[in-house]
Amino acid sequence: MSKLVSPSILSADFGNLQKEIDMLNRSRADWIHLDIMDGVFVPNISFGLPVVKAVSKLTAKPLDVHLMIVNPEKYAEKFCKAGASILTVQYEACVHLHGTVQHIKSLGMKAGVALNPHTPVSSVENIIGDIDLLLIMSVNPGFGGQTFIARSTDKIRQAGDLITRSGSGALIEVDGGIYLENAGAIYSAGADVLVSGNAVFSAANPQDYIAKLKEI
Ligand code: DX5
Ligand code: ZN
Repeated sequence: MSKLVSPSILSADFGNLQKEIDMLNRSRADWIHLDIMDGVFVPNISFGLPVVKAVSKLTAKPLDVHLMIVNPEKYAEKFCKAGASILTVQYEACVHLHGTVQHIKSLGMKAGVALNPHTPVSSVENIIGDIDLLLIMSVNPGFGGQTFIARSTDKIRQAGDLITRSGSGALIEVDGGIYLENAGAIYSAGADVLVSGNAVFSAANPQDYIAKLKEI
């Protein structure tokens, strides 16, 4: 099983973004997670295309873009051009999820689907074979620094069962409230990729923290 780490720059110092990305470049981070919030799907606004484009010029690491926006299909091509390698949409924001996933893949990106804490894993039964990534939200999306919802561990196991049963190659990513203290249990439940924002960027030594997340 892969143990990948995708630090979320939501908690980075945006006044020193180049310095923060340089730090991630020197670290063992596998991907860089970018949280896009529109103030409609979630009660917060983060950043958009110009920031994704700027980050893509500063790194060779894959950009793992998490869209917490309504009508994500309208922006897939723009995020692709801005440098996204993996584009994840929220299940709850997509009326025609199958079409949206196909569109993302046709642009050459990996396609991810994120599930809010209340959305059952069974919702993606008919799309799991088409996606590259299943993102289990372990907090309600919108803010960094929240507490991991304990039930998410069961959902990670259910996601693993569904992936095995269906023969899908999708990776399981988990996002929200992840720290060194709970990372081991999350990997053990079947997670392949851990997103970590607050824990990494508030650490005394973020590079060291990322290394420890991978070695756990
Ligand atoms: C929440 C975002 C997360 C968030 C994770 O809406 O999707 O990616 O930045 O941050 P932490 O690790 O601080 O919970
Ligand atoms: Zn995220």
